[in-house]
Amino acid sequence: MATPTSGSKAILLILLIAILQMEEGSEPTLNQFRSLAMADAADDQEWTTVEKNNTHFVASGKPFHVSGFNTYWLMSFSVDHSARAKVSDVLRQSASIGLNVCRTWAFSDGGANPLQISPSVYDEDVFKALDFVVYEARRHRMRLILSFCNNWEDYGGKAQYVKWGKEAGLDLSSDDDFFSDPTVKGYYRAHVEAILTRVNTFNGIMYKDDPTIFAWELINEPRCPSDPSGDTLQSWIEEMASYVKSIDPSHLLEIGTEGFYGSSTPEYLHLNPGTYFAQVGTDFIRNHQAAGVDFASVHIYSDSWLANSVTGEHLVFLKSWMEEHMDAAEKVLNMPVVFGEFGVTSKDEKFTAKFREVFINTVYNTLWKSRMRGGSGGGCLLWQLFPEGTEHMDDGYAVVLHKCSITSKLLPDHNRRLFPSDWEERSEVESYIFHEEL
Ligand SMILES: *[C@@H]1O[C@H](CO)[C@@H](O)[C@H](O)[C@H]1NC(C)=O
Repeated sequence: MATPTSGSKAILLILLIAILQMEEGSEPTLNQFRSLAMADAADDQEWTTVEKNNTHFVASGKPFHVSGFNTYWLMSFSVDHSARAKVSDVLRQSASIGLNVCRTWAFSDGGANPLQISPSVYDEDVFKALDFVVYEARRHRMRLILSFCNNWEDYGGKAQYVKWGKEAGLDLSSDDDFFSDPTVKGYYRAHVEAILTRVNTFNGIMYKDDPTIFAWELINEPRCPSDPSGDTLQSWIEEMASYVKSIDPSHLLEIGTEGFYGSSTPEYLHLNPGTYFAQVGTDFIRNHQAAGVDFASVHIYSDSWLANSVTGEHLVFLKSWMEEHMDAAEKVLNMPVVFGEFGVTSKDEKFTAKFREVFINTVYNTLWKSRMRGGSGGGCLLWQLFPEGTEHMDDGYAVVLHKCSITSKLLPDHNRRLFPSDWEERSEVESYIFHEEL
């Protein structure tokens, strides 16, 4: 009796894997091309670095639009082998609803489970965990924004760098010395170099050569309130943007700013959510004129900035905050704008699930209108998305995949409209995403 040759066994196995993967990716129906992309090595030729041309992003000669999300904790989950599957879960599930960029931390300075134990001293296991994140993102065709540092104390940040400086005997008085002390700036530059030149232990690709990286981010939400003129932060941005580009000229770079206008543009100050925000040492227009910065980063937290509970006023602010930044990016900066964080907290006393949906719809619709007229709206990233089983980490902003209509319907509908060729059923776009919220 004839037995199958090893060749036909292999074909059977490939078919079986393909069928299993289609089942896995079948909620909702992305077309097979994308579901099976990760199994197709030839497809790597299509996986090219995203570039910018004036106010637009371009990948492989085609327009690229960011529809993304934040999950800052991927590296720290990936360290723990029992939790590593959650990293794969969130990447697979978010890709299956059409999301294409994930923003996450490439830092963890000092403290528990640090990547960087002390300046330029790394925990190799944690670096391998970051390797896994980058490798796994590539497999799921998810591009990454990797941030190098934090303005805030979570995962170390500028306070930890200043602490290291003090431990080394430097005379430092404020966490803002992070932006000006030459030794501390040297620590930061060394970290940037360590990330850019890291060779991924899973696939041998140096980070600076991996098209999986959509962009580098200098620092999450920089503020330097000790110098409201903005000069200190501005020189830091200019120095560090050039430094990144000197090592990696090909990937896109953004700063990580929240988008507050500063003293260089008095005519825009009234657009800030309050007068205080002109005093935090940032300056949207001037910051983004630094050489090497490719696109503008803006965050949207009307629920905390406007300091009163969510109402229609917040939607009015949201639209004008987005439109004015896109307008400035077109007329002054000639670059795309990415709204790198936006969300609504359930801890607000007037929070409703409906309000959050309307808020997210408004963000996507405002960007869609910009895109339709060829504007600078490059995309947005929701803060923040979780796979099931990680709800204990909810900071109020968590949207749990497949547990609510945002991820089962709203985001897939917007992504079908944005990326029709990635979906089988182009006609299924729901009417509600087109109607005006205001
Ligand atoms: C870049 O954009 C301009 C319009 O802003 C367009 O004329 C030009 O063809 C684009 N170049 C490439 C290489 O896409």
